[in-house]
Amino acid sequence: MITRAEYELLKYLPKGSLSDVAENTSLGDGAYSIANSLQKKGLVKIDERIERIVQLTDEGRKYLEDGLPEKRALCALECGARPVSSFGEEAPIVVMWLKRKGWAELSSGKLELTKDGKEACKLQSPEEKMLKRLGAGGVGSEELSEDPELINTLKDRCIVDIRESKVLDAKLTDKGDAMLKNPVFEEEGLSSVTHEMLKNGSWRDKKFRRYGIRDAEEIWPARAHPLKIAIDKIRRIFLEMGFEETEGNFIESSFWNFDALFQPQDHPARDLADTFYLDDLGHELPPQHREVSKMHESGGDIESIGWRYPWSKEVAKQAVLRTHTTSLSAQNLTRAKIPSKMFSVGRVFRNESLDYKHLAEFYQVEGIVVSEEVNFKNLLWYLKEFYKKLGFKKIRFRPAYFPYTEMSCEPEVYFEERGEWVELGGSGIFRPEVVKPLLGVECPVLAWGLGIERPLMLQMGLGDLRTFYRNDLDWLREYKTDEVL
Ligand code: PHE
Repeated sequence: MITRAEYELLKYLPKGSLSDVAENTSLGDGAYSIANSLQKKGLVKIDERIERIVQLTDEGRKYLEDGLPEKRALCALECGARPVSSFGEEAPIVVMWLKRKGWAELSSGKLELTKDGKEACKLQSPEEKMLKRLGAGGVGSEELSEDPELINTLKDRCIVDIRESKVLDAKLTDKGDAMLKNPVFEEEGLSSVTHEMLKNGSWRDKKFRRYGIRDAEEIWPARAHPLKIAIDKIRRIFLEMGFEETEGNFIESSFWNFDALFQPQDHPARDLADTFYLDDLGHELPPQHREVSKMHESGGDIESIGWRYPWSKEVAKQAVLRTHTTSLSAQNLTRAKIPSKMFSVGRVFRNESLDYKHLAEFYQVEGIVVSEEVNFKNLLWYLKEFYKKLGFKKIRFRPAYFPYTEMSCEPEVYFEERGEWVELGGSGIFRPEVVKPLLGVECPVLAWGLGIERPLMLQMGLGDLRTFYRNDLDWLREYKTDEVL
């Protein structure tokens, strides 16, 4: 017996691969689990194959437009011999290919066409033909096997790259064929509970689809995500050092994210390119805005000249996704006692294009120490102590700049296996221009904001930050707990 959804899939399968069905029909990714249950019933057989697709690289595309260097050189040489140097920085490629193809000869620093070379001017070389084909769209595995050597040469020249992707295919078995012709349907229950059903209690009388847990081939117990383990450890370290934990909002006014931190309103970090703005959610400014605005305009009543520009309330009211948890430290300052120590771990958001070492949202661990007794050396001690407790032995500091701290520095830790120093975030002593309007008095405040994913990625030997957010079940099941910080 089969369900309606299984019947749908049986109908599609003779026409395309399972991956096609998942991509192009309303079954979507659900097609995979339906195929699995059909396989268990012996109605289909799932196969996996690797498909290789050849594509032009950026360089390849450039050559498609401008022509391959050796072909351009060939045309240039048609009018007569030329010195190698006239080919500029392409000279080494040109000489190598013209000689290898037997199109030209080199004598006393000049290239001259051979007979073959003269012939070749008029013809399209196999490389050029392939370039054109690739320009018109990717080339699949069949074409690949036509002339593997040509493709390899193009790959070595970085003109093409070859991508491999898994294609899942499911074929109907004889039993499956018979079922498609004469389907016998299961009586199906509902697959989800709605809000309404919960509210009026009607779920009690409904019949629901059963989950086949007993059919599961493997059962995996729940496991904490590595990021969660790391964050818990970090929280424990700060709590043990006597810090109070605080929490803030993802959505903040620009006031808390920037202005309160003495970041001028035309600062480039406020740009749309770096910051996610939200339609104004009517953030009202807190009373501290008066002192903050004076600080920006003239330096207020402390020894400062401020940024000297007319400060705008409207700009400060704009809502943003916090770009750093320092926005929370600024708010913590307004309620801080002297002395006190506070920290937070939370997500921040930046308008970044994603790649293996950039995420648009990531975690920061942020801390402040407010005390008449502390100085820059204490800041270095806190950071060293923190990283020592996380298990890093070699720590160093590089001078840095932030609009809200003076002095400022960036801690780095050393990764033995990679032989590399890795930057972790920023830190410094808040400027009086930040402290006075928020705390009410001038007092040393040590502050830091450190990334979590980057050191964790390196510690775990991962090559890509996005691994943390892919929810790849195989990885989650297999990572080794002792690799997590
Ligand atoms: N906010 C800075 C960042 O996100 C880090 C920082 C925090 C620097 C506190 C100095 C003081 O990179």
